[in-house]
Amino acid sequence: MIIFASTPRLKAWAAIVVMAATGSLGGCGTDHTPVRGFVLPQGDIERGQEVFATAGCRYCHSIRDVDLPPFEGNAVLDIELGGKVYRVKTYGELLTSIVNPNHVVSAQYRAMLDAKERINPQSPMPVFNDLINVTQLIDLTAFLHARYELLTPQYRGYYYGP
Ligand code: HEC
Repeated sequence: MIIFASTPRLKAWAAIVVMAATGSLGGCGTDHTPVRGFVLPQGDIERGQEVFATAGCRYCHSIRDVDLPPFEGNAVLDIELGGKVYRVKTYGELLTSIVNPNHVVSAQYRAMLDAKERINPQSPMPVFNDLINVTQLIDLTAFLHARYELLTPQYRGYYYGP
C-alpha cells in the first residue's frame, strides 16, 4: 500500500532521473543531447570511405594517410581529419561533429580565424542530416574513427627516478 500511495512521487523522481541522465535538466546547454559513451552499431569502414569521397566532405577535408580518388571540384578549405592525436576522438564526438557541426568548433579551425571571429566561432560546415542516411552516417563514423591513432603523451617534467 505504501508503494502504491507513493507511486506519483516515484514517477516524478524517475522523470527527474531520466532528465538528469539525458542532460535536459540544464547545466549542459540546450542545443544538444550529451553523447558520451554513445556507440553506434558496427559500421563498414570501406563503405564509409566511399561516403566520405562522394558526399561532399572533400570540399573541405582531406584524411591523413589516405589516398582518396582525385577530387574534381574546387576545394573550399583544407581541414585534415584523422592522424595522430593525444586523445582518440570517440564515436560520439565524431557523430556530433557531423550532425551538429556548431556544437564544438575544432581547435584546428579556430586557429585559422582572427581574434574577433574566435569569440563566437560558427562552423562553415554544412549540415548533411537530410543528405545522407543513417547507414551512411554509421559507416562514415566508423571510417573516420579508424583514422585516428592514439599517441602516448611525452611528459617533459621532473625526473624522480633513481
Ligand atoms: C564547406 C566546408 C565543409 C564541408 C563540406 C564539410 N566540413 Fe567537416 N568541417 C569543416 C570545418 C571548417 C570544420 C572545423 C570546424 C568545426 O569543428 O566545425 C569541420 C570539422 C569536421 C569534423 C571535426 C574535426 C575535429 O577535429 O574536431 C569532422 C569529423 C568533420 N568535419 C567531418 C565532415 C564530414 C564527414 C563531411 C562530409 C559529410 C564534412 N565534414 C564536410 C568544414 C566542412
